[in-house]
Amino acid sequence: MTKPDATTAIRGLGTCLPPQVLTNDEVAQRGGLDTTDAWIRSRTGIVRRHHVTKELSTGDLAVSAGRAALQSAHATTADCVILATSTPDRRCPATAPEVAHRLGLGAVPAFDLNAVCSGFVYGLAVASSLVTAGLCRQPLLIASETYSRIVDPLDRETAVIFGDGAGAVLLGPASAGSPGTIAGIDLESDGSGSELITIAAGGSRLPGHGVLLDRDLRYFRMQGKDVYRQAVRHMHESSLKVLSLVGWTADSVEAFIGHQANQRILDAVADRLGIDPHYRFGNIHDVANTAAASIPLAMASTASQAAVRPGAPTLLTAFGGGLTWGSVALHWPDARPVDLTPSATAPGNTSTFSPPTQES
Ligand code: COA
Repeated sequence: MTKPDATTAIRGLGTCLPPQVLTNDEVAQRGGLDTTDAWIRSRTGIVRRHHVTKELSTGDLAVSAGRAALQSAHATTADCVILATSTPDRRCPATAPEVAHRLGLGAVPAFDLNAVCSGFVYGLAVASSLVTAGLCRQPLLIASETYSRIVDPLDRETAVIFGDGAGAVLLGPASAGSPGTIAGIDLESDGSGSELITIAAGGSRLPGHGVLLDRDLRYFRMQGKDVYRQAVRHMHESSLKVLSLVGWTADSVEAFIGHQANQRILDAVADRLGIDPHYRFGNIHDVANTAAASIPLAMASTASQAAVRPGAPTLLTAFGGGLTWGSVALHWPDARPVDLTPSATAPGNTSTFSPPTQES
């Protein structure tokens, strides 16, 4: 746990969702799944999700969300790029350097961070630490995911709950306690649960080069029931830790945003904490579980409705594969979100997606 000096703030908030939207019925039919819209809505709260089309990648969404965050902060540059993702464009190299290049940021440090669905919370810790350490002034933290590329379309437990998207924040120095400043962070992990959320093949343990592997090895697999229980327990306990660290009570929280995994999980955590329903925000119905991208996407949707006053005590909490989890206490940012999602009414319109070129 760490209590930063509260002088690093979120200054800009950007998003990008791929234009293709799939309803519950469409995703069920697409995979030929034995499921229904009613089951998905009642058991998860999800109504629709965005999926990339075949020409788009995690890096493409990241470039647009990163550009949107810069615009939101009225900034033209960033001096570091951290890309939180568990669905990189390639296994090697990291995706972040190419994203930084396509954003025209020059020779800035750029690296991927994989904490699965906790990636944004981990990323906030790393980004704010870099600022506090004086290693950079204005890091761009992007969380971008394309889970539609790794879930098994025939697995009804995962195919229905994930979506694609990207959210980004630009951070920078600020006066202590001002809107957007990060007041406290709790990060934790438990690798004994690494099998609960996994893609078994494709790494050094089971490379699977050229071998036609079993679906259970090559696709994303999740033991939903166990994950559900652990997610509720750890997000609840981690939230209490960070609140106690910064001296806030659940009563004082004016914005609660949890990882958008399942509405029932979010309700259980918020109920246990005693967060007033009026102060719970999210967009799982619209975007499903977008892994690392879920918290910045939910923050942007909340900010676009001006639902929270700048500076309000805010609690973010996340849980994901690893297992990893963590929470952040911050003051709600004073940033108008910018969305660079291409128009859904123009199929194939990728005008806001920069092609990967050598010159920026
Ligand atoms: N449609 C219809 N039925 C489904 C289904 C679907 N999409 N998915 C599962 N079921 C069935 C199960 O097969 C089971 O049937 P059975 O009783 O005949 O065995 C029944 O529904 C209940 O299964 P259960 O696992 O108890 O469902 P659930 O209410 O726990 O919901 C998840 C399943 C995956 C939605 C839920 O466990 C979940 O959200 N887990 C956590 C996900 C998460 O937090 N991820 C975060 C880290 S990325």
